[in-house]
Amino acid sequence: MDEMELSFYGAASVEPSPVSRMMASFAADFRDGVDINLGVGYVNEKTIPRGLILEGMQKVIADPQKYRGALNYGGPQGSENLIQSIKKFILDNRIGSLSEYELERHEILIAPSGATSLLEGLAQLLPRGLVITSDPIYYIYSNFLERMGFEILAIPEDDEGLDTDLLAQTLSEIGNDQQNIRFIYVVTINNPTGTILSNRRRRKLVEMAAQLSHQLGRKVPLVLDRAYEDLIHDPAVPRPDSALLYDEAGLVYELSTLSKIFAPALRIGYMIGPPGDFTRAMIQRTSDVGFSAPLIMQEIAGYILEMYAIGQLTRVNRGYRQKALDTGAWIDETLGEFISQRHGGQAGFYYYLTFDTIETHDESDFFRFLTRTTGKPEIDGPPDNKHPRVLTIPGRYCVHAAGSLMQIGQRQLRLSYGFEEPDNIHKALQLMREAVEYCRSL
Ligand SMILES: Cc1ncc(COP(=O)(O)O)c(C=O)c1O
Repeated sequence: MDEMELSFYGAASVEPSPVSRMMASFAADFRDGVDINLGVGYVNEKTIPRGLILEGMQKVIADPQKYRGALNYGGPQGSENLIQSIKKFILDNRIGSLSEYELERHEILIAPSGATSLLEGLAQLLPRGLVITSDPIYYIYSNFLERMGFEILAIPEDDEGLDTDLLAQTLSEIGNDQQNIRFIYVVTINNPTGTILSNRRRRKLVEMAAQLSHQLGRKVPLVLDRAYEDLIHDPAVPRPDSALLYDEAGLVYELSTLSKIFAPALRIGYMIGPPGDFTRAMIQRTSDVGFSAPLIMQEIAGYILEMYAIGQLTRVNRGYRQKALDTGAWIDETLGEFISQRHGGQAGFYYYLTFDTIETHDESDFFRFLTRTTGKPEIDGPPDNKHPRVLTIPGRYCVHAAGSLMQIGQRQLRLSYGFEEPDNIHKALQLMREAVEYCRSL
C-alpha cells in the first residue's frame, strides 16, 4: 500500500525546518548549567509575573459575575473584558499614539493561540501568491509561508527597517508579477536584527500599500507584527506611531502579543484592524481552530493588564535594558575586532552580528567549535562529557535563500540575551572569541 497522500503543505511539513531540526537536536541533550543557549527566543524567566498570574487566576475564579464562564468555551472574537483591558492599556500608555477615536474605528480580536496563530490564519485566508517582507526575514514565519505555497519577496532593510526605495525598485522590476502580491508583512522590531521600523518608514509603507492597492484594483494588506514593540527599552528611541494612524484605505492590520511582556504560555495575541470581510473571516478562523483562546487565560491576562500593566512593563524593560547594555559591551570587548556590524540592543532581546571573514553557518569551523563537533578531542572534550556548548542562530537561516543577502548571511548570527543570565552570556561570548581564534589558527 502506498503512503497516504498529503497536501502540498503536509508534504512540505514532513521534514522539520532547518532551525527546528537544529534546536531539537541541541535541546535533546542540553545540559543545564553547562551549555548556553543564546539561540532560542525564550523570554527571561525572571520577567514572568508568577504572583500576578496566580492572583489573577484567583480573582477570575472568585468572581463569576464579572468573569462569566471563565472555565467554559469562549466566543470567537475574544473576551470582552480582555478587549476592554487592551483598549485601556493602549490609551493609558499612549501606545502608538492611538486615540479613542482610532480604537472605535477598528476591531480588536483575540487570537486563538498567540500572534503566531494570527500569522497562520492570515496564510489560510489569503490566496497563494507573493508576500513582501524585509530581509533578514522572520525565518519561522517565512518558512511556514513557503510550506503553505506562498513565495517570499525579501527586501533588504537598512537602519530604519525595510528599505522602501529598494521596494519601489523591485516592484518596477517585477512588472506584471505585481498581480501576484498578496500582502506585505513587516516585523516592526525585526526578528532577527532588532532593527526598529522608523515612523517615516511606517508612513511610507502605508503609502506604498495604498498605491499598490489602487494600481491592482484590490486591497493589498500591510500586516505589521508588533511582537517586540512594547519592549523598546532604549530611552533614545522615538516613540513609534501606530501605522493605523496613517491608514486611510483600511489596509493596515497590527498584530501584538502579551508573550514577551507577560508570559508566552498564556498564548495571548491580538489583532487590531479595520472592520470588514478579512476581519470577520479571521474571527471565524478562531472559531474553527478551537472556538477561542482559553477563556481563563484571556481573563487572567485582562486582569493583569488592567491592574498592573505599567509596573510590569517597567520591570521587564528595565531588566532587558541592563542586559542589552552589558551584552553590547561584552560583544565589543570580545568580538569587536572581528565584526563589521552589530545590530539590535535597543528593543526586544536580540543582537545580530556580521563578522568580517568568519563564517557562522552550521558547517563552519566556528559553529563546529561552539557545538563541540570538530572531531578533535582537545576542542570537543570527551564524548560523554563534552566541553560547554553555545547555540546561536546562524545568519544563513535568517536571510532569504533567494535574496541578495545570502552571501553575507553566511557570516552573520543572531544571539538572544533574553533567556540566559548575564554570567552565562558573558561566558558564551568568551567562548565565541575562542571559536574565532580557533578558526584563525586553522
Ligand atoms: C516576530 C514575531 N512574531 C510573533 C511571535 C510569536 O508570538 P506569540 O508568542 O504571541 O505567538 C514571535 C515570537 O518570538 C516573533 O518573534
